Amino acid sequence: MVNFSIKGFIKLAVFISFLGMAQSGNAQNKINGKKIFETRCLVCHQSDGGGVPNMNPPLDGSTNVNGKDIARLVKIIRNGYDERVALDGMYYNNAMTANPDLKEDAIADVLTYIRASWSNKAGAVTISQVKAALLKNKAAKK
Ligand code: HEC
Repeated sequence: MVNFSIKGFIKLAVFISFLGMAQSGNAQNKINGKKIFETRCLVCHQSDGGGVPNMNPPLDGSTNVNGKDIARLVKIIRNGYDERVALDGMYYNNAMTANPDLKEDAIADVLTYIRASWSNKAGAVTISQVKAALLKNKAAKK
């Protein structure tokens, strides 16, 4: 009986420390993502994610940013964006600059950050999702 509860306790402790590690990993991604956002994106999309009317679209509340098409988001971050299509019914005149030097983990971090900031509550983006998206984009170029 005593033996059993010690084992149970150890199992529980191991489980809790795993949870802690998983959580701090996620928090680290968001902290890194915030740094990247502040140095590369804030100037256009603003610190509140609200964008600038007619120039730069808001990321806060954007259907696409909160949506399921991760490959499209990865492509925009890597290659920039100048499509002038309606985004949630509005058009924007500015052109987004490319980030060819942003590594896969950094793209995952900044997307995780914008999808979980302000009023956004979408899921984290993983490095393997970014890798798959970059491969898909390469194949599409051929
Ligand atoms: C020079 C200004 C500028 C910078 C810097 C910039 N963006 Fe953009 N971003 C834009 C503009 C303008 C558009 C829309 C372009 C269009 O409509 O053709 C856009 C579009 C987007 C979209 C698509 C939004 C939607 O609703 O579909 C995302 C996501 C995005 N930007 C994220 C980022 C991230 C993340 C960064 C930093 C790594 C960044 N942007 C840096 C100007 C900028």
